[in-house]
Amino acid sequence: MPNWVHAAHVDDVPADCGLELVIASRIIGLYRVGDQFFAMDGICAHQGGPVAKGGICGSIVTCPWHGWQYDVTTGKHELSEIRQQTFPIERRGDELFIDMQVPGI
Ligand code: FES
Repeated sequence: MPNWVHAAHVDDVPADCGLELVIASRIIGLYRVGDQFFAMDGICAHQGGPVAKGGICGSIVTCPWHGWQYDVTTGKHELSEIRQQTFPIERRGDELFIDMQVPGI
């Protein structure tokens, strides 16, 4: 069963970097790609850096610590099979909700 949690207003999400949020004791990165929004685990799989605060170009976010890059639409690392957890996101008017009820949580 989905567990939709309010995350942010659409205007809170910058166009050029992620928005770091703490939701249900998890650090989540919220990203804007065009007029769509995506949510991904905000802790980098490399060494735990704040990928949620990384700069974004298209759908690619760059971790500010060592430059690992992930596609925020899938969570996939650019050069390997490593995959960050992603979360379903739903827009209701101008408010964004994340489904925190996903396998492994
Ligand atoms: S911690 Fe993110 S690239 Fe190293």
